[in-house]
Amino acid sequence: MIIIGSDHAGYALKESLKQNLEKQNLAYVDCGCDGSSVDYPDIAETVCRRVLKDSASNAKGVIICGTGVGVSIAANKIVGIRAALCADYYTAKYTRKHNDSNVICLGGRTLGADVAWELLNVWLNTEFIGGRHSMRVNKIKSIEERENKEKNNE
Ligand code: RB5
Repeated sequence: MIIIGSDHAGYALKESLKQNLEKQNLAYVDCGCDGSSVDYPDIAETVCRRVLKDSASNAKGVIICGTGVGVSIAANKIVGIRAALCADYYTAKYTRKHNDSNVICLGGRTLGADVAWELLNVWLNTEFIGGRHSMRVNKIKSIEERENKEKNNE
């Protein structure tokens, strides 16, 4: 399942990507927005929480704001989310292969619709290769655990 959401600055790109997903018969859940002004951290959090909720079925998230930066900063605050801001094909491919990213962040004001679809398409169709990269992803999870411990000790 693909969970998609955007703020107002990413709305047009979200609608365009939804059309591409439909053409490929790929199921998605649209978490908004409807084009009206919303704050990107809210959309990022909604999409990411749903990705985590559906993680057993390998759900993946797509979040779009003007640059993709705001949603990526917000998304990466959530434990269990590995959000990758992508603007080039190599990054979109290798963030799946090496980082096992579960969310892709795109810029509605920085990417053309065709380029954004190429990025999303390769990201969705590339598997994590594991091996030594699993150990590195596990180190990210260890950072999250230490962060939680730090907070509990405050
Ligand atoms: C909204 O104007 C804009 O700030 C937002 O979409 C995003 O680009 C933030 O990073």
